[in-house]
Amino acid sequence: MNGVTVIDHPLVQHKLTIMRKKETSTAGFRRLLKEISTLLCYEITRDLELTMERIETPLTEIDAPVLEGKKLVFASILRAGNGLLEGMLDLVPSARVAHIGLYRDHETLEAIEYYFKAPEDVANRLVIVVDPMLATGNSSIASIDKLKERGAHNIRFLCLLAAPEGIANFQKAHPDVPIYTASIDSHLNEKGYIVPGLGDAGDRMYGTK
Ligand code: URA
Repeated sequence: MNGVTVIDHPLVQHKLTIMRKKETSTAGFRRLLKEISTLLCYEITRDLELTMERIETPLTEIDAPVLEGKKLVFASILRAGNGLLEGMLDLVPSARVAHIGLYRDHETLEAIEYYFKAPEDVANRLVIVVDPMLATGNSSIASIDKLKERGAHNIRFLCLLAAPEGIANFQKAHPDVPIYTASIDSHLNEKGYIVPGLGDAGDRMYGTK
C-alpha cells in the first residue's frame, strides 16, 4: 500500500502473534511490546542520513559514520504509546521524547486532547510518532495536527497494527507522513476495535481490564 511500510521481519511477526493471543499475560505482553518496539525502531530508522566524523581508534585515525542532524524525537500518544517508548529509547538513548495526551470519546470515537509537551525545537528534528494501534486514525491525526502546529514537518508514524479505515483517514489528513506497521488487519468493528487485532493495547499492557 502506498505510503505504508509493513515490517514483515520474522521476529516481529512471531512476537506479534504471541501478543495477539488472548491468553498472553500482562507481563508477557509488556515484555513482547518492548522487544518488538526495538525491532520496529531498527526498521523505521534504517534510512537515516549519516555523516563522516574524524575519530581515532587505538590504532589509527579514520573517517567513521555517525548519525547526521539533530537528535530524533519520539512522540508518544498516551497512554499506549508509552509501551513502545522503552524499547525505542534502548536503541536510541539520545532521542528526545514528546508526550501527547488524548483519550477516545467512546461514543463519538473522537480524540480529545488533555496534555501536550514536546521539545521546543521540534521543527528541526525527525519526529517519530508512536501508538500501537492505528484504528480510526483520530488520535494520530490530532497528534500530528498539533505537532505540525509547532512546526514539525519531518514526521513518521509507527504502530503495531493498522486498520484499513484508519490508514485511509490518516492518509487523507496527513499524506506527507509515512506509516510503518507490523500488520494491516482486516477491519474496524462497530466499537472501533481492530479485528482480528489484539484487544485494547493499553489495557493489555497495564492490566487495567
Ligand atoms: N485501540 C486499541 O487499543 N485497540 C483497538 O483495537 C483499537 C484501538
